[in-house]
Amino acid sequence: MPMASPQNKGTILVTGGGGYVGGQIVREALESGFNVRLTARSASSADRSVARFPAYAAQLSTAVIPDMTVPESYESSFADGAITGIIHAASPFVLDPQDNVRDLLDPAIKGATAVLDAALRYGGGKVTRVVATSSFAAVKDLSQGKRVGYTYSEKDWNPVSFKEAAVANGVVAYCASKALAERAMWDWMATHKSEITFTLATICPPWVFGPYASALRATKSGLSESVQLLNNMIDADAVPAFDFGGYADSREVAAAHVRALEVPEAAGKRFLVGQDFRYQAAADIARETVPELKTRLPVGNPGEWEDAYHVDGSLATRVLGLKYGTLRDTVTDTYVQLLKAREIEAAA
Ligand SMILES: NC(=O)c1ccc[n+]([C@@H]2O[C@H](COP(=O)([O-])OP(=O)(O)OC[C@H]3O[C@@H](n4cnc5c(N)ncnc54)[C@H](OP(=O)(O)O)[C@@H]3O)[C@@H](O)[C@H]2O)c1
Repeated sequence: MPMASPQNKGTILVTGGGGYVGGQIVREALESGFNVRLTARSASSADRSVARFPAYAAQLSTAVIPDMTVPESYESSFADGAITGIIHAASPFVLDPQDNVRDLLDPAIKGATAVLDAALRYGGGKVTRVVATSSFAAVKDLSQGKRVGYTYSEKDWNPVSFKEAAVANGVVAYCASKALAERAMWDWMATHKSEITFTLATICPPWVFGPYASALRATKSGLSESVQLLNNMIDADAVPAFDFGGYADSREVAAAHVRALEVPEAAGKRFLVGQDFRYQAAADIARETVPELKTRLPVGNPGEWEDAYHVDGSLATRVLGLKYGTLRDTVTDTYVQLLKAREIEAAA
């Protein structure tokens, strides 16, 4: 049972704390000794998120933000003057939107700048760092495909425009929502430079795999799009085709966010957090490490590693001290949690 850290580091606001990545961020922040005020769209959803961390009840509070694109929604979250840092993880993660602008671009972009507006207006000068969950989707140039021989890093930007994204397919639109939201945040910081007490850092992970922070009880709905990809491989006919050649472990992504909040040198930097990834490697590993999956995952071409670009996550190691684990641990831990959730579902 994790114990609350004796050394309290103050209170941070975490948006999207009810999600997959956000939940791991909340856990990491609590274990690191922060008080966490997590936001949700409704009180019931906020209560559900808090209930996931019973050992940390004293360090948790909630704020209901019905519309994260409206800065005024945040006013009461800052009213007690306690907030010194913000992690903005909330953003729509859907790859099949009905309306690209309404479902992805508007909430992501307006939500990103609204939280900065709110920190400036209501933060009372106490907020020192904002960390935003961006994505490798904001880094990768989708028009370049596998780009063999190229190495993506923080210097790269997905060049897609709002106009293109508004009429593109869902994957392109999601990637654009992340790129345009992150750009909007950096632009906002430049525009408000003389008025603000805080700096910005962004975390750009590729597919996030690895466990949820608390027990997973369902797999048929509600999984994050990335975890769904590994879930979908169970009993599938074929190994999925190459899409994004990178992954990051959910626990490493969370650690990167919390360190980016604390490390002074993270100010003004974006961090590509991740390592190279292929679905074939994930299938090979899980068939070996999870006995139940030996015959339930597609075989594909064992050992094959398709040529494509590399992702360079080394800045996060140098600046944030982030240590990367192995794909073996990430894939195994993901599937063990998924299979347990399937058992719970089957027994219900
Ligand atoms: N998973 C990945 O592979 C991956 C990779 C790179 C970056 N990311 C980023 O990580 C963040 C979290 O994603 P996830 O994988 O954890 O997905 P998730 O489980 O679906 O979580 C998404 C979170 O964002 C919140 N959210 C979505 N749309 C919102 C809106 N319009 N207003 C307020 N809150 C909204 C959700 O709140 P509700 O619970 O109320 O729906 C939820 O807390 C996102 O910013 C995503 O772009 C994810």
